[in-house]
Amino acid sequence: MEKEKFYITTPIYYPSDKLHIGHSYCTVATDTMARYKRIRGYDVMFLTGSDEHGQKIERIAKSQNVTPKQYVDKIVDWIKELWELMDISYDRYIRTTDEKHVKGVQKIFKKLYDNGDIYKSSYEGWYCTPCETFYTERQLVDGKCPDCGREVEKLKEESYFFKLSKYQERLIKHIEENVEFIQPSSRKNEMINNFLKPGLEDLCVSRTSFKWGIPVEFDKGHIVYVWIDALSNYITALGYGSEDERDFKKYWPADVHVVGKEIVRFHTIIWPAMLMALELPLPKKIFGHGWLIIDGGKMSKSKGNVVDPKELAERYGVDALRYFLLREIAFGQDGNFTNEALIQRINSDLANDLGNLLSRTVGMIEKYFNGKLPNEQKGNSFDTDVIKVAKETVEKTEEYMEKMLFSDAFAQIWVLIRRCNKYIDETCPWIIAKDEKRKDELANILYTLSESLRIVAVLISPGMPSTPNEIYKQLSIKDDNLKTWDSIKEFGKLAKDVKIEKALPVFPRIDIKKELEVLNKKAEKAQKESVCNNKGKDKEKANNFDESSFISIDDFAKVKIKTGEVIECEKLEGSDKLLVSKIKIGNDIKQIVSGIAKYYEPSQMIGKKVCVVVNLKPVKLRGVVSEGMILAASDDSGKLNVVTVDGDIGSGAEIK
Ligand code: MSP
Repeated sequence: MEKEKFYITTPIYYPSDKLHIGHSYCTVATDTMARYKRIRGYDVMFLTGSDEHGQKIERIAKSQNVTPKQYVDKIVDWIKELWELMDISYDRYIRTTDEKHVKGVQKIFKKLYDNGDIYKSSYEGWYCTPCETFYTERQLVDGKCPDCGREVEKLKEESYFFKLSKYQERLIKHIEENVEFIQPSSRKNEMINNFLKPGLEDLCVSRTSFKWGIPVEFDKGHIVYVWIDALSNYITALGYGSEDERDFKKYWPADVHVVGKEIVRFHTIIWPAMLMALELPLPKKIFGHGWLIIDGGKMSKSKGNVVDPKELAERYGVDALRYFLLREIAFGQDGNFTNEALIQRINSDLANDLGNLLSRTVGMIEKYFNGKLPNEQKGNSFDTDVIKVAKETVEKTEEYMEKMLFSDAFAQIWVLIRRCNKYIDETCPWIIAKDEKRKDELANILYTLSESLRIVAVLISPGMPSTPNEIYKQLSIKDDNLKTWDSIKEFGKLAKDVKIEKALPVFPRIDIKKELEVLNKKAEKAQKESVCNNKGKDKEKANNFDESSFISIDDFAKVKIKTGEVIECEKLEGSDKLLVSKIKIGNDIKQIVSGIAKYYEPSQMIGKKVCVVVNLKPVKLRGVVSEGMILAASDDSGKLNVVTVDGDIGSGAEIK
């Protein structure tokens, strides 16, 4: 019989920087679902990839004197390494720079144009480059991007427009009639009330002011808007628009697009409207998960609070990290990330509950039966309840996994693990072991535990891909038929003569106090090492100096001033005076906090050639590291202008 298909996707990530633990969260959850469906017998297509075009990437690449492609190639390699480390079992990785995707997008654009869903006009409005999103005046909040709160840029360009407004009523109807379409359901109301009901405006879908994107085939001066480019990946990856559309025919529509909450809007409005215009079926479900937050806010490089998934995985193990992400946060809601919470979960759930259950079981089989259980076994009065809990656990885990409620699924699996540990306390095998006549009772207890552990191994396998192998190894389970989901629906499939192979504990306990000390020291060291600086010195008041205030040429030589180019700039959250700029100085990039927000909009700073004191002692301003000082001239009238250099000179040139 042909297997039923299951097509699942992650968002395609911006390779504008290395990914952090928040991105891994989304991918681990999607991977868990893909693995679950595979073990349930589906023909799974799991797609992930990278979203490589756009103005932001073009600017960063320019600042590093490389081509955008050279820039993204390096980060994409890094991302692929991360997914390998995190045991992400994707079937396909799409890059929006892939030739097949580029051609597919061009075809999609042309088809929409030919059908009259795209028309040419001119755009005048606002654009948020970090979010690569257009906004109308009324969508802005205090004149800023409603999503990220950063400055927006005024745009006036001849552009193509997609007739989004035409699909408004059909979209509302579809969302209301298909309760499963947007999950969790709270996000559905947000889409209807905040976006659809107030009215959709046609969407600007091409740009002319930069080059790094997919050219509109029939009007080469225009490039396709990144979100049209990016969303199309879900079908171009299956060959839509190419000569070979077999995968598209087989896997489309997607069973679920897993996305973070801030991009639910693009996936439940723009994407379905595009598909309606292309006369294609809509995805069955869009699951909008919450954010992994740190100290109450979203992780971001400029806040200096990003957590590196590679470091965590290497320190604590991939399965422990995956377990934490899946168990700690209810999928759909925001959740806080702390090292303490991670270590506590490892110690209590993994080392104490699961690790101990395995090592006690294996240890007792070794101690009382020389490593092999006899076939003669005799049940006890506690078995029935363990078997009942095992059965219920399989059923409930299935229910939760189908709904992508990973945290509930793991909580349920731990009900069985804890029940088994309680069973050991109830039956006291160490007392039975003293009575030679009760060997068959003892054998049965250890068999019940071994069989429960086999069931646990299968149940955790979608979320924790390598731990089950450790369990199978220690219980000498070699037969693949005992590792299937179907095999755990019946208790007792494991042969009675369990043999064991002793090994080291799967999850050693972590000394939380010592570990936190090490982590804190590391954080302090990183802070000291980060070359930083503070502006904000009092300005010189007078032009006439007495001799005592003269400095020697050697004193002056101590101050290193260089030319730099501002490549990113944003307001520091919670401050109306400070701007945080990223400045390219030769091959270096420094982050500088300066008190110039009253005089410059961040967008005015980008591209400016400024003069930077590069050897000031680093400081933290409002929790953000500042690595230097941008020189500025100010006078008593309250004017302030940053100092720039005359003529054409590159960044990193010394000012003397
Ligand atoms: N390129 C777009 C997606 C296009 S899909 C057709 C994009 N990329 S992203 O790299 O900025 O974000 C990718 C995903 O990572 C988003 O779903 C986003 O919600 C998720 N996360 C980024 N930071 C996150 C957390 N701190 N926590 C959880 N998920 C987070 O958007």
